[in-house]
Amino acid sequence: MKSIIITGGAGFIGSHVVRRFVNNYPDYNIINLDSLTYSGNLQNLEDLKEKINYFFEKVDITNNTEVEAIFKKYKPEGVIHLAAESHVDRSISSPMEFVYTNVIGTCNLLNACRKYWIEDKKYLFHHVSTDEVYGSLGNEGYFTEETRYDPRSPYSASKASSDHFVRAYHHTYELPVVITNCSNNYGPNHFPEKLIPLLINNILEGKKLPVYGDGKYTRDWLYVEDHASAIDTVFHNCKIGDTYNIGGFNEWKNIDLVRLLCDKMDIKLDNKPGTSQKLIEFVKDRPGHDLRYAIDANKLKKDLGWVPSLTFEEGLEKTIDWYLDNKQWLSDIVKGVYQKYYEKQYKNN
Ligand code: NAD
Ligand code: TYD
Repeated sequence: MKSIIITGGAGFIGSHVVRRFVNNYPDYNIINLDSLTYSGNLQNLEDLKEKINYFFEKVDITNNTEVEAIFKKYKPEGVIHLAAESHVDRSISSPMEFVYTNVIGTCNLLNACRKYWIEDKKYLFHHVSTDEVYGSLGNEGYFTEETRYDPRSPYSASKASSDHFVRAYHHTYELPVVITNCSNNYGPNHFPEKLIPLLINNILEGKKLPVYGDGKYTRDWLYVEDHASAIDTVFHNCKIGDTYNIGGFNEWKNIDLVRLLCDKMDIKLDNKPGTSQKLIEFVKDRPGHDLRYAIDANKLKKDLGWVPSLTFEEGLEKTIDWYLDNKQWLSDIVKGVYQKYYEKQYKNN
């Protein structure tokens, strides 16, 4: 049995990566290492509770004693690192959390790998990062793996810093690493502070739909299970020390995406056409708002044969259907109920 630690497995993307690895690789032990912050939710993984190759460890990656204990216990041969503070708006109001978890937490993991990966085995530290490290594009061009780093929010600065440490540990200590930089994800289990689930929740509650600034900001969107499949592809086939961009070849201006989602929600909810669009409200812009992110994911396509499996139309349908089928999941989060549930369940840990 090969053991693999997946950090941040109770979060949005991590839960899809954990599920994919537990189900597709029964010969791996998958250890989900997560401290269950506000965005970590074990309800995301209820279906894996009975699986014999799945383990959960409530560990804070900023605590190196806890991290080392897990390395001693499981002797992992791979780490897929997703645990992070992930929301740009929170990084603007509270940047230090991002430094602790994203920078120091990542370094703690790298140090544990250095300390325990001494036998002659095939190890890999897969660092999951964001396209936001490259900064902001104008109306033309794409981020490639060669684009110079230019992070502009506390979130992207903390992720860029962690990327640099990962590369530095590879160059200095020959730690086997790979980095993936992905565009905006969407799909089931997305915490409703991020644009798409926030819109779905607000439409269901008849609340306003806040669009920052003029709404002309542009993002490339990728369905979360396609991100998980890309991580799987890279983890198993990458060139050590390399970087791969992951994207959906799918750019949307925020306002166009908001309108599309409104129209789709009206159909699903049997509303009169135009009902949800009436909730759109242009609000004060995010400070330092990056204009445009767009990924060139051709290296991953050419070298490892990965392409997204879903169109945006299909992915958005699946996402809306999931939220409509899981209104309890959404309202538990909005009301903060799940936090009390986990405090009770893990109060002795
Ligand atoms: P998320 O906020 O949904 O999940 C983060 C998870 O990390 C949570 O389960 C949380 O409990 C855990 N965590 C946070 N601090 C921790 C700590 N100190 N110790 C242990 N666990 C901790 O985030 P997400 O959207 O799933 O993002 C996952 C990763 O993917 C992040 O590294 C993020 O930078 C990267 N990423 C996200 C996107 C996106 O669109 N969401 C795009 C590209 C890259
Ligand atoms: P978000 O989901 O926070 O992801 P990121 O900032 O990492 O790209 O935001 C996506 C885009 O939507 C971004 O341009 C900010 C914008 N946005 C709004 O217009 N209104 C909102 O309420 C939120 C949360 C985001």
